[in-house]
Amino acid sequence: MPLTYQEFKEAASRLCGNDLSLYKSKQMDRRIHSLMNIWGVSDYDEYLTILQTDPQRYQEFVKKLTINVSEFFRNPDRFMELWERIMPELLKKPGKIKIWSAGCSNGSEPYSVAIILHELCASTRAEILATDIDQVVLDKAKKGVYLQNEIKSMPPDLIKKHFRQEGEAFYLKENIKERVVFKKHNLLKDPFEKDLDLIICRNVVIYFTEQAKNDLYIKFNQSLRMGGYFLVGGTEPLLYYKQLGYENVSPSFYKKIGEPKTDGMLGGLLFG
Ligand SMILES: C[S@@+](CC[C@H](N)C(=O)[O-])C[C@H]1O[C@@H](n2cnc3c(N)ncnc32)[C@H](O)[C@@H]1O
Repeated sequence: MPLTYQEFKEAASRLCGNDLSLYKSKQMDRRIHSLMNIWGVSDYDEYLTILQTDPQRYQEFVKKLTINVSEFFRNPDRFMELWERIMPELLKKPGKIKIWSAGCSNGSEPYSVAIILHELCASTRAEILATDIDQVVLDKAKKGVYLQNEIKSMPPDLIKKHFRQEGEAFYLKENIKERVVFKKHNLLKDPFEKDLDLIICRNVVIYFTEQAKNDLYIKFNQSLRMGGYFLVGGTEPLLYYKQLGYENVSPSFYKKIGEPKTDGMLGGLLFG
């Protein structure tokens, strides 16, 4: 019997250790089938065999599904808010602050945070963990080499100070690179750290189903310390932030002020 699409998706999920059914199905289906067309594959058995035997195409498949566009100071006004208001407040706490960039892609996001901390003369006051499901982008992130379009939203004086340009490539300086620890991590499966002061998860959940997104937001809340902050993407406001235990302090920034109100058994949010 030939593999059905559902069976293919289940087998591909096992292969890449990522449950594809937790991603929005329309977008996921479109991406899976677009590669099928590009590679001229006629059925799901052949598609699966390719993924199992051709490491290069397997990487292309993972890349296609995870979409990892990113840039330094993406939505600059949010990074300025982080710089001028949120970070100084967090730094009032004695000891180290713990920051997590979840779905960090090529590292532009956690490195932007490291640059802000450097500018606030607080580089050594924070631990920055940056995670992604895609090992290829993590390897790129660790190298810290970027193109003009990935740093275009940064203030020019910061580019000059923190990068060394060679031809078209911009090399991030070592004192910033060494502030970030990169790790492979699947947000839909792996355990989360506790007592975090700031979680940044932007432009990642847009690909997840509503249920997966809600479960994730509950887990993020449980990972933050009381008074910690959660920064989301510009197009991903938390509709149920009160039920999730947050106060919306400014666009995209949420402060933990309580625990999520869930119905316990099912883990769903309680409304009203
Ligand atoms: C569009 S990028 C966002 C990068 C950065 N946060 C930003 O806003 O510029 C989305 C990232 O989410 C990652 N991703 C997708 N599914 C994931 C999962 N289940 N767990 C962890 N990361 C995931 C992708 O690999 C990709 O690098």
